[in-house]
Amino acid sequence: MAKRNEIDQATGTETTGHEWDGIKELNTPLPRWWLWVFYATIVWAIGYWVLYPAWPLVTGYTQGVLNHSQRADVAQAVKEMKTQRAVQGKQLQGATLQQIEADPNLLQFAREAGKSAFGDNCATCHGSGAQGFKGYPNLNDDIWLWGGTLDDIRHTIQVGVRSAHPEARVSQMPAYGRDALLEKNQIADLTQYVLKLSGQKANAAAAARAEPVFKEQCAACHGDDGRGKREFGSPNLTDREWLYGGSAAEIRTQIEQGRGGVMPTWGTRLDAMTVDALAVYVHSLGGGE
Ligand code: HEC
Ligand code: HEC
Repeated sequence: MAKRNEIDQATGTETTGHEWDGIKELNTPLPRWWLWVFYATIVWAIGYWVLYPAWPLVTGYTQGVLNHSQRADVAQAVKEMKTQRAVQGKQLQGATLQQIEADPNLLQFAREAGKSAFGDNCATCHGSGAQGFKGYPNLNDDIWLWGGTLDDIRHTIQVGVRSAHPEARVSQMPAYGRDALLEKNQIADLTQYVLKLSGQKANAAAAARAEPVFKEQCAACHGDDGRGKREFGSPNLTDREWLYGGSAAEIRTQIEQGRGGVMPTWGTRLDAMTVDALAVYVHSLGGGE
């Protein structure tokens, strides 16, 4: 027979028999509902251990009878995507860019693949709609620095512009102001000349003064008529489309600083099929030649 402990007079509750300096401990039971929840969590945990991966072992872990694995799910999804891409990729391989564009099915696949690769790799600079930003060309229009045929576009993507690639497209407009190649007033006159070339309001006397300077300094790259030359990636200065902006201040800044945009090399980062798909996609945006 267990000995019954003393009953506390004030509360009517049994004490545990423990006593410190005259203070006695009451034996207050845990609430029933609390205990049941507690037992339920133990049962839940044991069920979980049995069904799901739970305990680390020396090498690996307990697998659980359901054989559940998020890692395996992802691996499976990636495998499925790869086989699907491989089937369509096979069709693209061996086909020339021109054959791809001529075949509606291949064109459709290449455009979709190109569009998604564009979102992943190109949109940061060229915009998600390829509309471009200041210094980053719009790829929807029919204005091309380096050429707008399928092969031109593919080559630009493959090697890049002013990138580290040994065959990258390069050309460097001199920084006429920063490197003091021209006087301040000559640069001011040239600014007026470029404004006039593009059909904007300009100071006629200043533009006339700048004409011989333009022929001497600028025409080699931009052409006598200022229409640009693709072998130098030099923009047409007579249209109203600008890479760096067409205001007097923006034009002067470019003459002073000779900025040249850098486009990365993609041939070393993306597989040939993706570069093909990107070329087809960009070519089909509207301005392809
Ligand atoms: C880091 C920014 C950057 C990224 C990313 C980038 N580009 Fe460019 N791209 C440029 C710049 C800058 C130019 C203009 C180079 C110049 O001034 O000649 C350019 C030029 C181009 C041109 C030539 C346009 C013309 O008028 O001839 C094409 C085509 C092009 N990019 C396609 C792409 C594609 C496709 C991708 C993705 C695979 C991409 N770019 C990713 C910066 C970028
Ligand atoms: C060595 C070739 C070269 C020479 C010489 C040259 N440019 Fe350029 N110019 C370029 C290139 C290349 C670009 C485009 C830079 C880029 O793509 O980032 C450019 C861009 C420009 C732009 C910006 C156009 C835009 O669409 O925003 C202006 C303006 C310009 N040049 C004016 C001149 C003037 C004026 C001279 C003579 C004083 C000159 N350039 C000499 C190659 C040249």
